[in-house]
Amino acid sequence: MLIESNKSLKEYNTFGIDCKAKYFVSVTTSDQLIAVLSDKKYDAHFLLGGGSNILLTQDINALVIHLNLRGITILSETEEQVQIEAMAGENWHQFVLSCIEKGYGGLENLSLIPGNVGTTPIQNIGAYGVELKDTFESCKAIEIETKTEVLFSKKACNFGYRTSVFKKDARNKYIITSVVFNLTKINHKKSTAYGAIQEQLSNKNTSDPTLKNISDAVISIRESKLPDPKKLGNSGSFFKNPVIDADTFQLFRSHFPDAPFYEVSPTEFKIPAGWLIEQAGFKGKQYGDAGVHKNQALVLVNYGNATGGEIWNLALRIQKEVKEIFGIHIEPEVNII
Ligand code: EPU
Repeated sequence: MLIESNKSLKEYNTFGIDCKAKYFVSVTTSDQLIAVLSDKKYDAHFLLGGGSNILLTQDINALVIHLNLRGITILSETEEQVQIEAMAGENWHQFVLSCIEKGYGGLENLSLIPGNVGTTPIQNIGAYGVELKDTFESCKAIEIETKTEVLFSKKACNFGYRTSVFKKDARNKYIITSVVFNLTKINHKKSTAYGAIQEQLSNKNTSDPTLKNISDAVISIRESKLPDPKKLGNSGSFFKNPVIDADTFQLFRSHFPDAPFYEVSPTEFKIPAGWLIEQAGFKGKQYGDAGVHKNQALVLVNYGNATGGEIWNLALRIQKEVKEIFGIHIEPEVNII
């Protein structure tokens, strides 16, 4: 394994931030990963997947381990279902497309989400009415302390909205090496209720959509709202949609009766952070090379040479103004390093 020094991470994070790794190695198997973790020369490690959910605000004074484990295997199948394992370093969207091509259903609404398979359980990625947990069976992970493999069942992952055990009790303790999904071969559970998907499908007169039709609809919605990280550095939604209690919601509604919201439960209401940020006047604004995307205010972008610090300062300013105007605290979804 080649261990490089002083390596730029610009190509390894979708924000395109030019921070450096003191040391850098790309691992392609669990054995390599364990060997690197056991190497006493490097006591500090930083794990890097697809780099699609991090904002680098400083150089990394550690061995950056790029998780590049590849492979997709069918574990079992019946006439109705297939259980499929994808290694952590597989690109998420390519994996989704390969499932659709084989006629396996369940992941089509999650098309075009940036990042790799191994990081998808950490924040239980979700879009257009579907979350990762809906098809997730289990994942394998290496426990950093013992360097042994552990199997996490769906229950053990404790999934929630953009969260899991890997953001809580198991934070920084495990490295996910592969994920197993249960997908359908027939009688697909298609999720097309989301307004924008229905619109796309009816525009194309598709009343009984195929998996590919749904995926294409999702791709075109995402392409119309979300910038392509290859062209404009970004990390998808920068903030989570805040969930507020009933009293806070009543007060909020009395001042902002036109605000969109989703009722999560009778006592919890989710407010789209994109709406709050747009109303606060930030949509489409640019400050140096840091900015707020013109089509989706939830997405912060790097117009070229922004530093992580510049993007983070913009995020803090947005957070503060949203709090002042609406009395609602919005939290980053992205990991700030
Ligand atoms: N809105 C605005 N202004 C904006 C953006 C949104 O007013 O600039 C309003 C919209 O009009 C709509 C509401 O906010 O009423 C919701 O907008 P949208 O459907 O675009 O979804 P979102 O809540 O902003 C979430 C996810 C996205 C996911 C979409 C679709 C989070 C943090 N984000 O965004 O996930 O693609 O739903 O399901 O939950 C990501 O995680 O990187 C991501 C892109």
